[in-house]
Amino acid sequence: MELNIQSNISLKPFNTFGIDAETNFLIEVNENETLTKIFKKGIFKENFFVLGAGSNVLFTKAFEGYIIRMNSKGIQSRIEGDHVYVTAQAGEIWNDFVWYCIHHSYAGIENMALIPGTVGASPVQNIGAYGTELMYVFHTCEAFDTQTGEFTTFKKDDCKFSYRDSIFKSKFKGRFIITEVTYKLNLSPAINTSYGAIESELVKEKIVNPSIADIATIVSKIRVEKLPDPSTVGNAGSFFKNPIISLHIFKKLLEHYPSIPHYPMPNDETKLAAGWLIEQCGWKGKEYGQAGVWKNQALVLINRQNATGQEIYNLSEQIITDVVNKFGIRLEREVNLL
Ligand code: FAD
Ligand code: EPU
Repeated sequence: MELNIQSNISLKPFNTFGIDAETNFLIEVNENETLTKIFKKGIFKENFFVLGAGSNVLFTKAFEGYIIRMNSKGIQSRIEGDHVYVTAQAGEIWNDFVWYCIHHSYAGIENMALIPGTVGASPVQNIGAYGTELMYVFHTCEAFDTQTGEFTTFKKDDCKFSYRDSIFKSKFKGRFIITEVTYKLNLSPAINTSYGAIESELVKEKIVNPSIADIATIVSKIRVEKLPDPSTVGNAGSFFKNPIISLHIFKKLLEHYPSIPHYPMPNDETKLAAGWLIEQCGWKGKEYGQAGVWKNQALVLINRQNATGQEIYNLSEQIITDVVNKFGIRLEREVNLL
């Protein structure tokens, strides 16, 4: 089959911010062969960007080049002792995959229910929520090397996972296209209620011995209360990462702000809550032209109606400046800017 290259396409349906930016070209990838065809045509020598569900990107202008949209589907599993190795294609929707696993009694990703996006993007920023991170269940992934046209396997250690980071965001940024991910899940669940809000919801719901489905349901409920639904209010989840600072700087901040939320990290470091820092700067629920800051979570920037990507970017710059001026901490964006 010939490559189907669509021209002059609006990306509005393809990013959760709902930004109406255009791309010169769009190619949907439903099977791995398409990547080889794209390679043979020399398209990877031009400007291109790999898109999953567009839930962690901000288009600040029209895209000059090729958007390669990963849409391949399929899930397979193999049981070995107490574990199950589940392989999903890049275009599978993450939350559907989570529920597929729950229905098959495969445990380990239930705390990450309702994170938007695709399986293929899950290793890129080592997605995480409610007490767990992807790295704890990642086994391997297959990726297409856009420089050589070959497929390669990445093992866990190759990926250099850390908080909201991996080799696919750093050294190999933009080079490898993840085509499938294999997760190592458990047949005997280890229920994780370490994130405080889960415990309190369990008590409220009078659930004593929660199943993995209960955990996913409760996490989804908490998420819906805090985060705007991208189908009604454009957003990309946390716009910034939570900053990790040295113990020395943290102790100084603590003198001025005794109630500052903080989480201990290895290597004498401390993680702060960016949402709290932004709220202290007075931004929670504020409007900024057509952009704004979500009323229930100051870490989430929103498209109130018809914001441009530039408007949302300008708001993020203003927030960075205000947080630097008040706390001396420079927030880093989690969202990928284009
Ligand atoms: P995209 O936004 O399309 O792409 C993100 C990055 O990954 C880009 O750099 C892109 O080039 C790259 N990429 C995508 N697919 C591939 C591939 N197959 N191969 C190589 N590179 C690829 N994230 C969390 O970690 N935890 C949360 O709790 C969370 N909550 C969110 C809540 C909301 C309401 C929203 C909108 C977002 C949230 N996010 C969260 C962010 C987002 O869901 C994740 O980053 C998700 O993994 C992005 O998936 P995607 O398919 O939409 O990727
Ligand atoms: N907080 C405020 N004001 C706010 C928002 C938060 O004071 O407006 C305080 C809260 O009271 C709490 C602390 O900040 O003490 C942490 O808040 P929350 O539990 O909502 O989590 P978060 O740190 O804001 C992170 C992730 C989310 C993930 C949740 C749950 C990052 C950048 N964000 O948010 O991930 O879902 O924890 O695990 O690490 C994402 O990456 O897009 C994302 C949504």
